[in-house]
Amino acid sequence: MTFVVTDNCILCKYTDCVEVCPVDCFYEGPNFLVIDPDECIDCALCEPECPAEAIFEEDDLPEGQEQFLALNAELAQKWENITEMKEPLPESKKWDGIKNKIEKLER
Ligand code: SF4
Ligand code: F3S
Repeated sequence: MTFVVTDNCILCKYTDCVEVCPVDCFYEGPNFLVIDPDECIDCALCEPECPAEAIFEEDDLPEGQEQFLALNAELAQKWENITEMKEPLPESKKWDGIKNKIEKLER
């Protein structure tokens, strides 16, 4: 079982989530973060920390967000580990809540 970062993180990237993860399993891309499903211990600490409410358990993914399970697994292999909180993206407030931001995902 793993937790999954979904669409609303894109272009926001608040990074509150990385501060609480006991196993440091977040990976950072240009405008999105992912969780490595092989490292996540399913502790649930990150879920309530995300201001964008973008983190869900894999069995609890909202409708239309199912593709993010595979996307997290794929991108965790490509991106760098992130363990400390940093400034959110400059337009995070503007993009928070906008649907289907996956079109803007930068790999
Ligand atoms: Fe890390 Fe726990 Fe969130 Fe998994 S559920 S990403 S182990 S904080
Ligand atoms: Fe993204 Fe939420 Fe973490 S916006 S960077 S999943 S705190």
